[in-house]
Amino acid sequence: MGGQKRIGILTSGGDCAGLNAVIRAVVHRAISAYDWEVVGICKATQGLMQRPLDVMMLDIPQVDSLLMVGGTVLGTTNKGDPFAFPASEGTVCDRSAEIVEGYHELGLDAMIGIGGDGSMAILRRLAQQGGWNLVGIPKTIDNDLGITERSIGFDTAVNIATEALDRLHFTATSHSRVMILEVMGRDAGHIAMSAGIAGGADVILIPEIPYSIERICEKIQQRQVRGQNFCLIVVAESVKTETGEPVTKLECLGQKRYGGIGQYLADRISAGSNAETRVTVLGHVQRGGVPSPLDRLIAAAFGVAAVDLIAEGKFDHIVTWQNRQVVSVPILEAISQYGTVDPDGTLVKTARGLGICLGS
Ligand code: F6P
Repeated sequence: MGGQKRIGILTSGGDCAGLNAVIRAVVHRAISAYDWEVVGICKATQGLMQRPLDVMMLDIPQVDSLLMVGGTVLGTTNKGDPFAFPASEGTVCDRSAEIVEGYHELGLDAMIGIGGDGSMAILRRLAQQGGWNLVGIPKTIDNDLGITERSIGFDTAVNIATEALDRLHFTATSHSRVMILEVMGRDAGHIAMSAGIAGGADVILIPEIPYSIERICEKIQQRQVRGQNFCLIVVAESVKTETGEPVTKLECLGQKRYGGIGQYLADRISAGSNAETRVTVLGHVQRGGVPSPLDRLIAAAFGVAAVDLIAEGKFDHIVTWQNRQVVSVPILEAISQYGTVDPDGTLVKTARGLGICLGS
């Protein structure tokens, strides 16, 4: 793809640390290596849906100080699938044609979409419908895109959850309490497993491994017998009740969100042991703040590689991290592999090897 080009970039789905770092990398590469124009699309595809279009031209001075800034300067949304967009009185309508047209109105030669599996599926559908040249970059604190070892935002989220465990450790020892930390991660236990090991948790509960309250109470009692009168428990938000019910809270637009498993466990652990129990729900703290150096590195590598894919004319591909390298794979392949924690994998074996109770 030679000559002067104009590319679009948007962030879609839940935000995370490192999004601005990847926007910065894309702008640097596109302008300094290829002399292209970069158009930032605001609020994911919604920037192309509204008229006038909600977009901003991006240049190097504008993005230069973004490396360490949390959130996304482009804004984002994880609601409002354009193919079933909320309309009046609880109905939905297909707004995809307006979005497709917005891309062409801008005269874009290609689009870089930064998102998780849900966003990528929507963007790919739009690209196919509208003849867009799409390249994807994976981001999600959940790290649940199976094809990539790392997604932007995951490392920062793990750092934040680990720091929370470090802090809870001291107050737990002071009061001889059981401290439960509920972390995000959607249907995968990656944040819980990584932060749990790194933060010295005594119990790690993830949706991939069944648990019993009895086993957790035994672990607490074993520790008490050894004179360890506190216990750190980290639980992934999508862990179900003992009887297999998801613990959710109702959100706007009828979308369910996980939340509450920490308190569920606390009530049962208090009843099943003599331990005093407290719950911390870490929530969106995991998505905010300064990106870790590793997330900045991945953002830089992904940003450069995505622009280079456009230069090569290799569309409908997403950049991934595999065996210490950036590898591009078809988006369809990437979104068809949901990546949960492998119950026989290294991290689970490590946790068991350290004597961490995984609930079963
Ligand atoms: O996918 C990222 C994530 O933070 C999940 O871990 C969590 O379940 C969900 O988004 C929360 O969504 P919202 O920002 O809509 O509350």
